[in-house]
Amino acid sequence: MDGLFVSSHPLVQHKLTILRDVNTEPKRFREVIYEITMLLAYEASADLPTREVIVTTPLEDTPSRELATVIGLVPVLRSGLGMVGAMLALIPSAQVWHIGLYRDHDTLQPVQYYNKLPANSPTELCLVLDPMLATGGSAVATISILKEWGARKIKYMGLIGAPEGVQALHAAHPDVPIYLAALDDHLNELGYIVPGLGDAGDRQFGTV
Ligand code: URA
Repeated sequence: MDGLFVSSHPLVQHKLTILRDVNTEPKRFREVIYEITMLLAYEASADLPTREVIVTTPLEDTPSRELATVIGLVPVLRSGLGMVGAMLALIPSAQVWHIGLYRDHDTLQPVQYYNKLPANSPTELCLVLDPMLATGGSAVATISILKEWGARKIKYMGLIGAPEGVQALHAAHPDVPIYLAALDDHLNELGYIVPGLGDAGDRQFGTV
């Protein structure tokens, strides 16, 4: 599918095996989310604009390049929080914005309960961070909120996607590229990705 990147990198595949393993403890789980996020960020940031600067090495002045864009990180609460640290380690100048959504039990529609988007920002790229692209409901709603707010360029970064979630996100926001570590088989009747890794929030925060 156009706009869908699924990593085939051996390091990503190796680390994903650790994440999927039911015996992986929360500490290791968090570490591996951090590591995979870094590897995926490498792909998702490949087209970031840079500008020329002159840097003085111990030997001489030389033209070099630095990032020329402001980036907003939007973790989908709560499991997206585990991807923020790795992104900030790579891009310390990024801003972090929080949007909180829950799914209404009756309508099954995402409802916003928290929004900490800045009134205005020079940000040129928003990266939505959410490990599990399951039904796609939260991702679609988060991206709709960002677009209404005025975001011009948005990318989605996740770890595991279900075909259903990828379809839903792509149908609602075909302009938003999707970066994943794996595309799994299906969603089960409880909305879990299969084979997946279980509940990414519970496994990170020890609330199983
Ligand atoms: N959210 C999760 O944490 N896991 C899934 O499998 C689906 C949604």
